[in-house]
Amino acid sequence: MDKVSIKDIDLSSKKVLVRVDFNVPLDEKQNITDDTRIKAALPTIKYLLKKKCSVILISHLGRPKSKFIPEMSLKPVAKRLSKYLEGNHPVFMAPDCRGTEVEKMATNMRPRSILLLENLRFHPEEKNNDENFAKELASLADFFVQDAFGTVHRAHASTASVPKFLPNACGFLLAKEIEYLGKTLEKPGRPFLAILGGAKVSGKIEVIENLLKKVDTLIIGGAMAYTFLKAEGIKVGSSKVEEDKIDLAKDILKRANEKNVTFLLPCDHVIAENIDGTSEAKVTDTDIPDGWIGVDIGPVTLNRYAGVIKSAKTIVWNGPMGIFEVDKFSGGTLKIAQLLAEATNNGAVTIIGGGDSVAAVAKAKLTNKMSHISTGGGASLEFLEGKQLPGIVALKDK
Ligand code: 3PG
Repeated sequence: MDKVSIKDIDLSSKKVLVRVDFNVPLDEKQNITDDTRIKAALPTIKYLLKKKCSVILISHLGRPKSKFIPEMSLKPVAKRLSKYLEGNHPVFMAPDCRGTEVEKMATNMRPRSILLLENLRFHPEEKNNDENFAKELASLADFFVQDAFGTVHRAHASTASVPKFLPNACGFLLAKEIEYLGKTLEKPGRPFLAILGGAKVSGKIEVIENLLKKVDTLIIGGAMAYTFLKAEGIKVGSSKVEEDKIDLAKDILKRANEKNVTFLLPCDHVIAENIDGTSEAKVTDTDIPDGWIGVDIGPVTLNRYAGVIKSAKTIVWNGPMGIFEVDKFSGGTLKIAQLLAEATNNGAVTIIGGGDSVAAVAKAKLTNKMSHISTGGGASLEFLEGKQLPGIVALKDK
């Protein structure tokens, strides 16, 4: 998966179309509540500006169902981006992403200026991967840079088709994601440990299947652990179980054993009578009594997991260990974040993928202490599943 990077070519003074993922959360007044993705796109944008490029940025925001929805405009992003560029480079906001007005704006751009086109998903052609729409976008520039890692799992016009019509390369953000998620997974330092959590086994089946081929140890936490524990005949009380996945869980456990993968499940639990944090919480050992729900991993489990984390050389973490949004039940997840930060400090490569684990690391204030925090939710999950992502496949190989 060696793709040409913007570092490999001379882009001086070119007009460059850059697909970024500015799909940022907005509150009801259209204020940006988390601008991580804008900040993550800055290295590529600043690099192109330094090379005297004119930079045309394209992105989607939300799921506007192919019509113009003012609340899903990228205007607040243009404002925030200008702030990060400290007023040195004006960010012009286009009224749309296609049409005569946009073409005029693109033609009249000066070197080192930025034009942000309006939300691509206001047009059905984006999601339909329409080649003519892709051609229209491509016609605005001389070169295409893909830097929207969060969206490369979508086969849309701006990911899968625009690269057909322009010479192209990946930006710094995408290159870093490919480096960590791709190359590290292909040739990991060993022992290689994956920690998976979250609500459902069903959402992670393909990730487990793929990782079973690669890891030395697989640690499971979060609600998905209870389906595995039930499959092993352990009492899980009223914990969330996917009854229709119990046979699959048995099969996964069997295959892990055959492949000599150490498969670790929680052996004690924090339990509560309801999950909103208003009832009493206590620690129980292996079996969970009727009427009680497992909401976090227990201290013995944490101790055990800590030992494995300390000896691992590569660690991939996707999904929390419990209901970490409720402070009372966040102990296990935050401690795992802490252990990973220590492991990074001691030389392990740590990769955090998936929205919830990224949020948990942020809650633990350890965002800068990991080797790599992925900016993609669905995209990083599909990467871990071993899938080919259309927005990466479409780019030029080295
Ligand atoms: C994301 O937020 O995961 C990406 O921007 C992709 O958005 P989508 O799930 O609406 O395609």
